Amino acid sequence: MRKLGLRDLGPEELRGRRVLVRVDYNVPLNEDGTVADDTRITATLPTLRLLRQAGARVILLSHFGRPKGKPVPAMSLRPVADRLAGMLGSEVRFVEATVGREAEAAAGELGDGEAVLLENTRFLPGEEANDGELARHLAGLADVYVNDAFGAAHRAHASTAGVAEVLRGQGKPAVAGLLLQRELDYLGGALEAPERPFVAVLGGAKISGKIDVIEHLLPSVDRLLIGGAMANTFFRALGHDTGASLVEEERVELARTLLDRAGAKLVLPVDAIVAREVQAGEETRVVAREAIPEGFRALDVGPQTVAKFRRVLESARTVLWNGPMGVAEIPAFARGTEAVAATIAAATDRGAVTIVGGGDSAAAVAALGLADRMSHVSTGGGASLEFLEGKTLPGVAALTDRR
Ligand code: 3PG
Repeated sequence: MRKLGLRDLGPEELRGRRVLVRVDYNVPLNEDGTVADDTRITATLPTLRLLRQAGARVILLSHFGRPKGKPVPAMSLRPVADRLAGMLGSEVRFVEATVGREAEAAAGELGDGEAVLLENTRFLPGEEANDGELARHLAGLADVYVNDAFGAAHRAHASTAGVAEVLRGQGKPAVAGLLLQRELDYLGGALEAPERPFVAVLGGAKISGKIDVIEHLLPSVDRLLIGGAMANTFFRALGHDTGASLVEEERVELARTLLDRAGAKLVLPVDAIVAREVQAGEETRVVAREAIPEGFRALDVGPQTVAKFRRVLESARTVLWNGPMGVAEIPAFARGTEAVAATIAAATDRGAVTIVGGGDSAAAVAALGLADRMSHVSTGGGASLEFLEGKTLPGVAALTDRR
């Protein structure tokens, strides 16, 4: 990576220093307000443990939800502080302020190795506007900035970008945390120097959200497997009837162009599981992709597609997966996603590098209990997509360059 990382800092740069750590604790909550899924919290523990052991004074910052610049009690980070304290096995003080006297006092009172979590950055209107004054106030809390919020690195906000620029301007380090670095190493490694064959699997509902990813990946992949409702738009481009399936009519022409350009690299489903409605308990049929009956929708890839995808994945040395193969929340339409997940897990077992993008595919892998059998499951949904589109992530760009 061409940015300075946490491990590049010496012990004297951390001991007794106030270190502002931007994390992404935008986690799902239960109805009773407790944390429902702590994956994103767990993913930051290596950075936090390193800092605490080094005697740093840790000031944690995160956004939560989309409160749009004003305090919303249901979006307080307090429940996250409780969970984090339990996971770290030590107190994490929660402060109901993000900047100002209370936040400054809390940061000033920290002892070496102690941690405090400040309130939701998005309670402040300057956060999403990347307001310069807010960035200066945040910078005033710290001697060092660590960005470990990969999930928010595609946002140019005061706590992800502005504060890093201010600190850099003051000659203070702004570095990547261990999680951010791991994400960039895996995702960037796949794009820049994959072991071959390199196979990407893309799914999800819409081709429009994935077009830039397809275009960016095509030159570097050996095979690009397409599943999910996105495949329907390609079926239409091939001239097939798609029944009542979801199709992005305005993208059919684009799908045709991609088919021409990609040639044999692009592998489409050959069959589908169809039903009349997207709901459990519906009559389902397995049909060839050119025989989707009128009034039926393609809701998952079929068994022949699974076998075909499996053959391609079996010889892969690098696999990148983003997006489910069907409507994975409904068991009758989850088989394709399950089979792809299991095949990728088996690829990891035989030594391939396997990377799962954040969002729905990460959720599917977690629900199947296969997350530990992937080389890397990204904590970023939108961020991993933007990275795979080849876009610069503002939260990364703002960090100190490695000399
Ligand atoms: C996410 O959950 O993808 C990140 O936390 C970013 O959240 P946002 O889309 O509200 O910026």
